[in-house]
Amino acid sequence: MIGRVLFVGAGPGAADLLTFRGARAIAAADIVVFAGSLVNPEVVAEHARPEAEIVDSSLLTLERVSAIYRRARDEHLVVARVHSGDPTIYGAIHEQIACLDELGLGWEIVPGVSSLAAAAAAARSELTVPELAQSVVLTRLPGRTPMPESESVRAFAAHGTTMALFLSCARAGVMQDELLDGGYPPATPCVVAYRASWPDELVLRCPLKDLAATVRAARIHKTALVLVGPALAAKETMRSNLYDPAFGHEFRRPHSWKVAHGEA
Ligand SMILES: C[S@@+](CC[C@H](N)C(=O)[O-])C[C@H]1O[C@@H](n2cnc3c(N)ncnc32)[C@H](O)[C@@H]1O
Repeated sequence: MIGRVLFVGAGPGAADLLTFRGARAIAAADIVVFAGSLVNPEVVAEHARPEAEIVDSSLLTLERVSAIYRRARDEHLVVARVHSGDPTIYGAIHEQIACLDELGLGWEIVPGVSSLAAAAAAARSELTVPELAQSVVLTRLPGRTPMPESESVRAFAAHGTTMALFLSCARAGVMQDELLDGGYPPATPCVVAYRASWPDELVLRCPLKDLAATVRAARIHKTALVLVGPALAAKETMRSNLYDPAFGHEFRRPHSWKVAHGEA
């Protein structure tokens, strides 16, 4: 038996949004390190073995986590490192991977349901609607973590497509200004999804011009995702090609236009 680290996506909050593979990874672990500030403790409690060592990473530095990984290598232990949502989105796993590669300890990533998906589901919206938005920008405002210069919210806003802002509600005024200055019209629909999929989930809708006031009035500072863009208010729009009877593809032959539209 050799030690290894499994980066597990715990999902956005609701314990039943953990994947089967994630559950198996937690159940296989000798040590479970989880981000207690965002991960539902039930996810760990339900799946970890009773004898597993449970560690809350929100109290630890990277150096302390690395010490756990060194022990896993030396004692041939399996570690489940449980991150909120999907580990590859703002999960700070790259620095852990560098440390694991240096230690010579194997690792793999078990994907999770991101809060992006949970927020869209809570908003009952598709993020990509034909003719309105076919791209989704995932970004954030700079905080203590600086942003690459070319990646300002203002610059991305110029595309006018769907944008998801993580980690940004504490600076709601700046967020609104950047989105407006970048070119979204003031009436652009916004959704603020607070603790999507948790029992106290809150979903607020407003036009962009009222975004900062809406976030502040609800006293939302963290654990919220802001979705912006015309797709969020889409009602009537172009049909997708994929499900058009006249559109054929690998798995379905097209009907003639007349048959497809009931005129044959
Ligand atoms: C450090 S990032 C982690 C993102 C995570 N890896 C993911 O895929 O969702 C934390 C940010 O994700 C967003 N977030 C995480 N869980 C959320 C939830 N249940 N509802 C809304 N936003 C959430 C918030 O913007 C929060 O500030």
